[in-house]
Amino acid sequence: MEHVDLRGKTSVVTGGASGIGRALALRLAREGANLVVADLDAAGMEAVAAEARGLGVKALALRTDVSELGQVEALAARAFETFGAVHVLCNNAGVAAWGGLESATHRDWQWVLGVNLWGVIHGVEAFVPRMIARGEPGHIVNTASMAGLVASKGLGVYNTSKYAVVGLSETLAKDLKPYRIGVSVLCPMGVETRTRQSERNRPAALRNERAGGGEPVELIGRSLAPETVADMVLAAVRANELYVITHDEALEPLRRRAERLERAVTSRAR
Ligand SMILES: NC(=O)c1ccc[n+]([C@@H]2O[C@H](COP(=O)([O-])OP(=O)(O)OC[C@H]3O[C@@H](n4cnc5c(N)ncnc54)[C@H](O)[C@@H]3O)[C@@H](O)[C@H]2O)c1
Repeated sequence: MEHVDLRGKTSVVTGGASGIGRALALRLAREGANLVVADLDAAGMEAVAAEARGLGVKALALRTDVSELGQVEALAARAFETFGAVHVLCNNAGVAAWGGLESATHRDWQWVLGVNLWGVIHGVEAFVPRMIARGEPGHIVNTASMAGLVASKGLGVYNTSKYAVVGLSETLAKDLKPYRIGVSVLCPMGVETRTRQSERNRPAALRNERAGGGEPVELIGRSLAPETVADMVLAAVRANELYVITHDEALEPLRRRAERLERAVTSRAR
């Protein structure tokens, strides 16, 4: 959205009550974009909407569980009804679960994929046809993770969800190009948020019968402030950059992965 002034445009941010989503929502509000915050945390999202109003934009908080298609459809319908169009959609809501794949429960898979992958799919299903019908330039930001590009031990369920979000986003960027809708996929390493307390968002029906699971793995590299990440996302939206890789520390693991893939071809056992 290079030449698009965001003043008076509309943004929607899922998981906007806390952390990266909150920072993205307020960054977009500071650009003058009206805001729809969607989250499970009613008090948190109301506070973000109030803060956005203080910045002079219109803001709405809509309680939405992104793992439920019907709720994301209702979110899209309300956003379009209220503001007429949506220009920047941030499919950002996400949760993390730790532990080896050998001990992952079916509920872990359902919960993490339900929010991290189906949440993004639902955002695409509900918003993209409406954005295309409206015919205005737009941008979609999907929050994946460095865990969507390099697989760390002890994070397999999460890695699976985030690799899928990267693949979806890479394809979406190609598919939506003719409609002037850009796509970015956000791949951070550590960010100072409440992601380590993700269990707070696990619905009762998907709680494990026995407590357990893994301890959060130690993060490599620096932890960035969510506001720093939000600034990078805004720059990527403006430049229509697909990958938003926030940490310089990502370079070495990415290189090692690319080298391993290259060796798999050049040194293939025959
Ligand atoms: N913090 C990090 O180090 C880090 C690194 C890489 C990627 N991420 C990703 O960033 C995104 C944002 O997470 P964060 O770090 O800001 O954590 P956070 O826990 O501070 O914020 C996540 C928000 O998502 C909301 N949420 C959870 N489940 C939801 C659901 N089913 N429907 C709607 N909203 C829901 C929560 O209520 C919360 O407000 C996630 O996708 C996460 O995987 C975070």
